[in-house]
Amino acid sequence: MTTSAAVAVRLEQQPREAAPFVKWVGGKGRLLSQLRPLLPLGIEHMRHVEPFVGGGALFFARRPGRALLTDINPTLVAAYAEIRDDVEGVIAALRRLAGRHSKESYYQIRERYNQSRRVSNSKRAAMFIYLNKTCFNGLHRVNRKGEFNVPVGSYKNPRILNEEGLHAASRALRHARLKCAPFDALLEDAKPGDFIYFDPPYEPVSQTASFTSYARDGFYQEDQTRLRDVYKALDRRGSKLMLSNSDVPFIRDLYKDFNIVTVAAPRAINCDATKRGKVSEVIVRNY
Ligand SMILES: C[S@@+](CC[C@H](N)C(=O)[O-])C[C@H]1O[C@@H](n2cnc3c(N)ncnc32)[C@H](O)[C@@H]1O
Repeated sequence: MTTSAAVAVRLEQQPREAAPFVKWVGGKGRLLSQLRPLLPLGIEHMRHVEPFVGGGALFFARRPGRALLTDINPTLVAAYAEIRDDVEGVIAALRRLAGRHSKESYYQIRERYNQSRRVSNSKRAAMFIYLNKTCFNGLHRVNRKGEFNVPVGSYKNPRILNEEGLHAASRALRHARLKCAPFDALLEDAKPGDFIYFDPPYEPVSQTASFTSYARDGFYQEDQTRLRDVYKALDRRGSKLMLSNSDVPFIRDLYKDFNIVTVAAPRAINCDATKRGKVSEVIVRNY
């Protein structure tokens, strides 16, 4: 084989780009170029751990060989598992939903998603992705009963099914362990030498900017403090830690013993268009 043919074969074998399969509040897609230089040396030999995985922008950009991905949102974690284990089933179900998309259909599917427990895992994952791609601003909001209650978005022609993207996500997840758990469960799972990226719901910058209801419960200052305690425990254990949060005195004070730098983040999802400018965020590392 000639050298150029060998290079072509190698390139062909490289996994294609993977990216989040859902739009997620606080998604890190637009911060990746600022996060990459802050990763620890030797990261290629470490297990990649994300206890607030959400859309998983950093995980999909890195496609690590070993990973542990967890989140408190059960439907999100179940969708990850289905994409890893039965991507064809998810694609087939999503194709059917995409083919009949309309405002009326959105509300019927939302109703079925909330009421019916007797749908297959692949259908449920497809409904989750369908709702995410067609709802208002890609929000995930649930009422007190845990029912998804976001209204339909006003997209002309939303891209509901991205087959190649789902295949790429499935390949990236092949060696990932998934778990639905609150962040403190990490104390059972984290090992020395893991790379752990914490991307929790952010501390609001002001009272009016408060949007912390990702799951059934909000994420309050007590939770930020408990998270700091987990961070300290894992620091003592010898894991490499990186954490994102908003640049506010409360957060700076919690992590004052660690290495803090700032990045300028565009606000991707904000209901108020006037608040879509850049904001300063902190990155806290223990290395
Ligand atoms: C800022 S988002 C993460 C965004 C993600 N890095 C991305 O690129 O899309 C925060 C995530 O934390 C999860 N979460 C909220 N409270 C949690 C808790 N107590 N334990 C674990 N995960 C939690 C939410 O479900 C949400 O997916």
